[in-house]
Amino acid sequence: MCPTARESVPVPRGSHHLDTRLVHEGVARTEFGETSEALFLTQGFVYESAESAEARFLNEEPGYSYTRYSNPTVAAFEERMAALEGAEAARATATGMAAVTAAMLGQVRAGDHVVAARALFGSCRWVVEDLLPRFGVRCTLVDGTDLDAWRRAVRPETTAFFLESPANPTLEVIDIAAVAAIAHEAGALLTVDNVFATPVWQRPLELGADCVVYSATKHIDGQGRCLGGVILGSRSFIEEKVQQFLRMTGPTISPFNAWVLLKGLETLALRVERQTRTAGLIADALYNHPKLVRLIYPGRPDHPQADLIARQMLGPSTVIVLEVKGGKAGAFAFMNALRLVKISNNLGDAKSLVTHPATTTHQRFAPALRAEMGIADGLVRLSVGLEHPDDLLRDLADALDGA
Ligand SMILES: Cc1ncc(COP(=O)(O)O)c(C=O)c1O
Repeated sequence: MCPTARESVPVPRGSHHLDTRLVHEGVARTEFGETSEALFLTQGFVYESAESAEARFLNEEPGYSYTRYSNPTVAAFEERMAALEGAEAARATATGMAAVTAAMLGQVRAGDHVVAARALFGSCRWVVEDLLPRFGVRCTLVDGTDLDAWRRAVRPETTAFFLESPANPTLEVIDIAAVAAIAHEAGALLTVDNVFATPVWQRPLELGADCVVYSATKHIDGQGRCLGGVILGSRSFIEEKVQQFLRMTGPTISPFNAWVLLKGLETLALRVERQTRTAGLIADALYNHPKLVRLIYPGRPDHPQADLIARQMLGPSTVIVLEVKGGKAGAFAFMNALRLVKISNNLGDAKSLVTHPATTTHQRFAPALRAEMGIADGLVRLSVGLEHPDDLLRDLADALDGA
């Protein structure tokens, strides 16, 4: 943060619980003593003198120079995210995909090799499978749940591992500590997309990951207002791999969006805990519904990786996967019959949302590839919101009964 003209109010690390850090970290009041964090909606800053501008650019004088590089409101959001995640440093980006792209491109050079889990959000998979090879970076996709597959994929030139856990949309869970150990043995760094778990339920850095990325568009905003992303890691990781890439290429978040996300963090734990509790109730109530082929929920003992979830996660998820009988037609009939739950491709929102991944987020993959990723035509992703559980259950059960 910029120390000039601002009273910094640090909250000592380790002495407060997550809920407290979510409200107080990153606060740096101006001389007006505002209660809510100030919004610095400015492209840049003026200097006292030409000498001061020169010194700022030489990094010899503290302060901000241009919002593409840094901004007090963006820095407040980054500080709160870093404190929450237990990271030394964080950088915010315009979207979650900007965070994924910058984190991965920042780590590799032509000739390097990346190993990634194959069950990924469609755009994440495009970055590792299609974008990186354009620049001479090869990528091997593996079944992320098979630790031997990660080991076998390693080559002398492997520098980076990438995974999502739980994965979008299959809720497949990967052993982060074990994959981090394999990556480190190979001299590579592990990046984890922690969107589905949220920082409330999973701490990849504590499990051994080197970098965590978020789409802040999801639970961090959680109210469907704006896009955003964050990259977190050690100070050296951020400074050496990410910082210059972001400064020079400019996937910068608007200070306004950073402010919205900063305020969103204050209620993150409350929202995620409530949404997760409701998701658990819904998963249990619908589990044996005759219109379902299967229901996957990380909070249920029948999840294929229930033991790992108990070890690795502090709580399950706000997302449930339902496979409706009748393939695409069955899924569409169910979705179209919903009244309260909305059809959308976002998740982690206050409003409960359903998505049909096979025709939206994962549409570009051939059917065989979708099947390999576990995305059946009848699969519907349900992101559970803040509505009353009884109202949601009635809507979901009615829609299934009528599908
Ligand atoms: C797992 C995961 N990673 C990254 C993203 C990309 O986020 P954004 O839409 O903010 O770019 C998404 C979006 O759905 C996602 O689900």
